Amino acid sequence: MTVHIGAQPGDIAETVLLPGDPYRAKWAAETFLKDVVLVNEVRGMLGFTGTWNGHKVTIQGSGMGMPSLSIYVNELIKDYGAKTLIRIGSCGGMQDSVAVRDVILAMTASSLSTPSRGIFRELNYAPSADWSLLQAAVKAAEAKGTTTHVGGIYSSDVFYDERPDLNEQMVRHGILGVEMEAAELYILAARHKCRALAVLTVSDHLLTGEALPSDQRETSFGDMVEIALNAAFG
Ligand code: HPA
Repeated sequence: MTVHIGAQPGDIAETVLLPGDPYRAKWAAETFLKDVVLVNEVRGMLGFTGTWNGHKVTIQGSGMGMPSLSIYVNELIKDYGAKTLIRIGSCGGMQDSVAVRDVILAMTASSLSTPSRGIFRELNYAPSADWSLLQAAVKAAEAKGTTTHVGGIYSSDVFYDERPDLNEQMVRHGILGVEMEAAELYILAARHKCRALAVLTVSDHLLTGEALPSDQRETSFGDMVEIALNAAFG
């Protein structure tokens, strides 16, 4: 047990999928895994371990934003030996070429700051996905026929942004979408020699104002989970 995860040693798989929403962790585990066991419910941040095609997998909620994700990822890596960590989440589209329901595979994650800013200080570290995972996710998405984009995303610190000029610069520089967790996930994975990737469904669009209706969120979310699972074991 750690401060934020109630699982016993051995309860957590080396491969962990990380949705922000703990109820999505529950839905994904019950939908895609076999022999599912609840391994964490501290603070309601549900985590489940089961098997997918015979491989042991944990699906653990990370909460919203990099400070929350950092707590779970630190403990998953340092205390439970997680080695492959894949964020499965939603993002806001930032380019005309990206549509609601599309999947974005985040090759890099720009940010204004992350919880690791205290370490990097004046350095502009470039958080990037693990190449083997990214390559396998591209293959999995192509096999599924999901419209997929690979490129840079923006990990913001705020959902209700009072600085639209920052988004404008991101759009101008080709950033595909905005979410709130991937940059710190990539940094922690790099620090601890783990593999990480963010597989994101476009749930809303900053340029068009379109948003995925709630009844369609589950199906789109399912595509992303399958891409993540295939990438992890591909
Ligand atoms: N901003 C930040 N995070 C998000 C968004 C957004 O528009 N959509 C989904 N996650």
